[in-house]
Amino acid sequence: TPVRVDFVEGGAAHRRLYGGGSGQMIAKAVGVAQGVRPRVLDATAGLGKDAFVLASLGCEMSLIERQPLIGALLEDGLARGAEDFEVAPIVARMRLLKGNSIEVMRDWEGEPPQVIYLDPMFPHREKTALVKKEMRLFRPLVGDDPDAPALLAAALALASHRVVVKRPRKAPCIEGVKPSHALDGKSSRYDIYPKKALKS
Ligand SMILES: C[S@@+](CC[C@H](N)C(=O)[O-])C[C@H]1O[C@@H](n2cnc3c(N)ncnc32)[C@H](O)[C@@H]1O
Repeated sequence: TPVRVDFVEGGAAHRRLYGGGSGQMIAKAVGVAQGVRPRVLDATAGLGKDAFVLASLGCEMSLIERQPLIGALLEDGLARGAEDFEVAPIVARMRLLKGNSIEVMRDWEGEPPQVIYLDPMFPHREKTALVKKEMRLFRPLVGDDPDAPALLAAALALASHRVVVKRPRKAPCIEGVKPSHALDGKSSRYDIYPKKALKS
């Protein structure tokens, strides 16, 4: 079946309505708490699923995607989301930028994002259902994001409060500075690099 970004129906809608809200691991990882909705830069936007979860919870999101085909799919999904009564206010909190995040972050002007979220591709050996169909399709286009260490360094230099990296649960951390702690989920892990406490 064709692949498209759909924030209105299917998995995104199900997760928005029944996915556990601010109790979800990703929400805790970026610091969502009572009275705290950080401004987040998702520097590896992909199909925007993670960014949509955080925008649904009220975070102001900037998204960067460098692969033009994936960026176009995302733009299309955001445009269709903007036409839906319930989803429009959520996608209004998602600002899409295109280009290489390493450069965009190095040249950032104005107030820095409080939290930078990274989910670079990781070389999966196993062909399990855990590796989502869409991302399996895109791997030949995207590759394995070997520049993840430079991405992490640029994120650490820019974020004012914390950097969060999503990894497969058993995968090593991104090379470079080590995270201070991690949150473990069923299939993913969130490595946390704190800089400053998030306050309400
Ligand atoms: C595993 S996917 C992210 C999936 C995303 N978290 C989601 O929920 O849909 C990784 C994406 O990050 C993008 N990416 C990796 N490094 C990047 C960079 N330096 N600048 C911009 N995009 C990048 C890749 O093109 C790919 O689309």
